[in-house]
Amino acid sequence: MAAQGVIAIYPGSFDPITNGHLDLIDRGARLFSKLVVSVLGNESKQPLFSTEERMEMLREAVRGYSNVEVDSFAGLVVDYAAQKGASVLLRGIRAISDYEYELQMALMNRRLRPELETVFLMAGEEFSFISSRLVKEVIRLGGSISGLVPPFVEDRLRQRMSKQAAPAGTRNFI
Ligand code: PNS
Repeated sequence: MAAQGVIAIYPGSFDPITNGHLDLIDRGARLFSKLVVSVLGNESKQPLFSTEERMEMLREAVRGYSNVEVDSFAGLVVDYAAQKGASVLLRGIRAISDYEYELQMALMNRRLRPELETVFLMAGEEFSFISSRLVKEVIRLGGSISGLVPPFVEDRLRQRMSKQAAPAGTRNFI
């Protein structure tokens, strides 16, 4: 049963969304009244997909959920959470290797805004090895990512990779 009236944000890069993220969204949507999945825009990392493209893919992926909203944010996540009226920040933990980074972020966020509680959920074990970074690497090198991302995300990745592989000087003219 969902925690009544509790709004949670699920922030991340989502470059692109994977089936691991979707599993977490499914769990979060059942736990909280409202779940806002928020793409970090204007980052220093160079994402493969623009903020708008990442949001588009997320919107498509969460179409079946009436209590899930897709949004983007810039600046401190704790300030964004306050704007959205969220009392929970949702994050996924796959393996113990995620823990150190997640603990640092959770404690820093708690220091910045003690009212915001970070809640960690574990995705299903079948998703525990999936990351956006590895999915991009595997598809770039010609491997199969079937079952790791939604089919429409796989199509978008293939299109993007084929554009990137075009010889220099031809990229914008095909
Ligand atoms: O999917 P990611 O890249 O692991 O997500 C990281 C994210 C977006 C949750 C984190 O980088 C973040 O919250 N950035 C916003 C800036 C901020 O608030 N930094 C201080 C957090 S400790």
